[in-house]
Amino acid sequence: MSRRLLVAGNWKQNGTVASARALTAEIIAGLTKSGDGAEYLICPAFLHMAAVSQAVQSSPGVPLQVGSQDCGVHPDGAFTGDVGAGMLVDAGCSYAIVGHSERRQLFGDTDALVAQKFGVAQEAGLVPILCVGETLEERESGKLEQVIHRQLDAVLSTVWSLENATSTSLPVIAYEPVWAIGTGKTASPEEAQEVHHLIRSRLADNAGQISDQVRIVYGGSVKPDNAAELFAQSDIDGGLIGGASLKAPDFLSIGKAADQLMRNGL
Ligand code: PGA
Repeated sequence: MSRRLLVAGNWKQNGTVASARALTAEIIAGLTKSGDGAEYLICPAFLHMAAVSQAVQSSPGVPLQVGSQDCGVHPDGAFTGDVGAGMLVDAGCSYAIVGHSERRQLFGDTDALVAQKFGVAQEAGLVPILCVGETLEERESGKLEQVIHRQLDAVLSTVWSLENATSTSLPVIAYEPVWAIGTGKTASPEEAQEVHHLIRSRLADNAGQISDQVRIVYGGSVKPDNAAELFAQSDIDGGLIGGASLKAPDFLSIGKAADQLMRNGL
């Protein structure tokens, strides 16, 4: 198994241009240029993207990419307030998160819209990070599998084109149990592994062998003290980190756990 762990920071709606630039500089300063560790990604607010990309681009060799937290579905045109995939590529993005539970819950992103965003991002050359995850109520009422399958199938049935994908262009899945996001409650490594395995099996049913190469990252209160245990699970390929990604030392320390695992051959 040769999946490169991904350590992704989701900065959400936080900061200023100056603080985003400073956080980026601090992260860059803490990363080594060697290519044998994890891949790092930071996802700032749209408005901070240009400043962050500029800082990343002026540090070649550092294993750090820039991604967006969402992606509009329309091409350029009369769509007031929206940001399209082409604009994201132009601003230096290489990844786009789609279907984050905050978008689903607070902004009405449906499975169909998420699938559309996924497709548009992929078409523009961005690597989509599809977020899936159940609420506490869904978990407690035994609907976990049903919810995960529904969220995955919406994408698998419409736009997922794994046949032609190479391992570097493969989409990423983020399993983020809604009850663990920003709450300090983390799924135990075993609980998370179980769902990651469920996700990989569903991918395998639809896309066969290549699903072994798809990275499935975990998100939901990942911190420096639980990252190593989570990332060591066989189907967990890194993390999508919210709160802890806003502090460079915490983000870097989570990353070190991933680097270490990669250097030890997992
Ligand atoms: P958290 O957020 O790490 O603050 O729980 C994760 C996310 O929402 O992606």
